Amino acid sequence: MNKHGGFYGRQGVVDYSVNINPLGVSDNIRQAIISSIDNICKYPDIGGNAAKEAISKHLNTDVDNIIMGNGASELIYLFARAIQPKKVLIIEPTFNEYRRAFTLAGSEIYSYVLDNNNDFTFDMDAFSNKVEEIKPDVVVLCNPNNPTGKYIGIDLIGKLVDIVKQENSFLFIDESFVEFTGNEPIGSAIGYEWILSLRSMTKYYAVPGLRIGYAVSNIKVIEMMEKYKEPWTMNTFALDIVPKVIEDREFHEKANRWVSEEREYMYDALKKVEVLEVYKSYSNFFLCKLKYFSGNKLNEELLKDDMFVRVCDDFVSLNDRFVRIALKGREDNFKLVSRLVRV
Ligand SMILES: Cc1ncc(COP(=O)(O)O)c(C=O)c1O
Repeated sequence: MNKHGGFYGRQGVVDYSVNINPLGVSDNIRQAIISSIDNICKYPDIGGNAAKEAISKHLNTDVDNIIMGNGASELIYLFARAIQPKKVLIIEPTFNEYRRAFTLAGSEIYSYVLDNNNDFTFDMDAFSNKVEEIKPDVVVLCNPNNPTGKYIGIDLIGKLVDIVKQENSFLFIDESFVEFTGNEPIGSAIGYEWILSLRSMTKYYAVPGLRIGYAVSNIKVIEMMEKYKEPWTMNTFALDIVPKVIEDREFHEKANRWVSEEREYMYDALKKVEVLEVYKSYSNFFLCKLKYFSGNKLNEELLKDDMFVRVCDDFVSLNDRFVRIALKGREDNFKLVSRLVRV
């Protein structure tokens, strides 16, 4: 298995290595799970139809364009297995499961690497040349990107899709963190003919233990994925909460307010920490480059005060000097920054 964030040692450590909304499980979700308990003596709906209906209304998309998954992770592997693209171009550094999934499916993997010395800026001409040279069947983009927090807006995505279309390629876009940007998912603006938009409900709704994700794409791609999908990968609780949370305006407002306030606060605070450089982020975490020591060394220090960050040594083009710090509530954010200035 690949390395991921998450501290599984002693109790009481504040885990800044996982990018989960610290507002935690909403009352709405709690209630939905409780009222769903008696449903577990039945098999869950194999197609997840009620959940799909709710998502289709929310996104104003046809139900046939949606597939449910046991987290977004299942759908990365399912897409790779069902479509079996010969060549895949991954925009790096990014979430490491794409590479593993497509490698297991037998694809040849190519990288278009964004330079940390240039703030991971996307260069459309360089990308276009790369696509023309490689002629990939699938291009993978995580937007906003894990671990850099960078976000490519709708204008540039439109151009990117044109480039992909020109080579008869297809864009696999992971929008698992899009809620944190305050923007709409890309497919709402450009349709799903040339793209698959992957969505995890893990992060924003703070339910990694429930496993909920979905993908939206053209019917041909969705049908291929359904053909290869194992039955009942979605559990009853996960399916039952989707219709209840997807339009939970109170939660959305609270979460959106939290992320925009804390992101600004934390960016300004991290900029003042001498031992690191922080990259501007559009998501709920920050990538930082340590100037004098490794992330492992930093964690040794932080753990003395029950804190832990994600060392990014396993991402293409990054190394153990890079760490990813997730946003928490104000008190924890303050605690971490106060400790970082003393390292
Ligand atoms: C970019 C990205 N996509 C997908 C996932 C997987 O999400 P899920 O928990 O829904 O499987 C993660 C998990 O960290 C992620 O960072």
